[in-house]
Amino acid sequence: MRKKYVAGNWKMNLNLAEAKALVEGIKKGLPAGANIDVAVCPPFYMLVPLAEILSGSPIALGAQNCYFEPKGAFTGEVSAPMLKDAGCRTVIIGHSERRQYFGEAGDLLKKKVMAALANGLEVIYCIGETLEEREAGKTESVISRHLREVCGPDVSLDKVTIAYEPVWAIGTGKTATPAQAQEVHAYCRAEIAKLYNPTVAANVRIQYGGSVKPDNAKELMSQPDVDGALVGGASLKAADFLGIIQGALAAQA
Ligand code: 13P
Repeated sequence: MRKKYVAGNWKMNLNLAEAKALVEGIKKGLPAGANIDVAVCPPFYMLVPLAEILSGSPIALGAQNCYFEPKGAFTGEVSAPMLKDAGCRTVIIGHSERRQYFGEAGDLLKKKVMAALANGLEVIYCIGETLEEREAGKTESVISRHLREVCGPDVSLDKVTIAYEPVWAIGTGKTATPAQAQEVHAYCRAEIAKLYNPTVAANVRIQYGGSVKPDNAKELMSQPDVDGALVGGASLKAADFLGIIQGALAAQA
């Protein structure tokens, strides 16, 4: 049984005071002993102060990106060892906004995933098609390409969560229907079985991302291959994020 995993991707939002209040709110509202994994992924400069607040809590801290080199003359970048040093447990790699606005793809993403894993971080690896690709019937080929960019015999998926985020559902209020999400998640798992083996495929967690809200969370996460959510907008308010966590717990019950 795969434990549900709800992660908040705050993107470039909130200031430090708002961020502190948000994690305090999530900490307070998280049901004690809940059988669920929860992470928050704030902007870089908030990691250290938030790590202090989260110390001893079951809520994991994550970053939204990292560079693959450990250190050196790479102005503006933050490395995997630095994230570890800041108190991160995980890092999001390959988000569609990194692919779209910063040209990240293929080999670069693989290097980032490998650097994160080599430095003891977990990874949330994002994949997903644009509206144009979906309408052209290319969803499966895009998913397959995104998986192959990173997956292979040199990358263990033990510490990797896949996040399926259809680009057309991100920040648009247009959620994939539970059936649409399930279809792609099942395809994704079948591809992982081909790339690794059925056991790896059965164990890997696949989150859904794209306009997840408290009122659609339970239904999405009740699908057999939807193991959690990567939440953008609704992760910025404690009540909404906690509502999604409640949805995940209800889906798992
Ligand atoms: P929204 O939940 O705002 O649609 O964002 C999804 C996302 O991109 C999470 O990484």
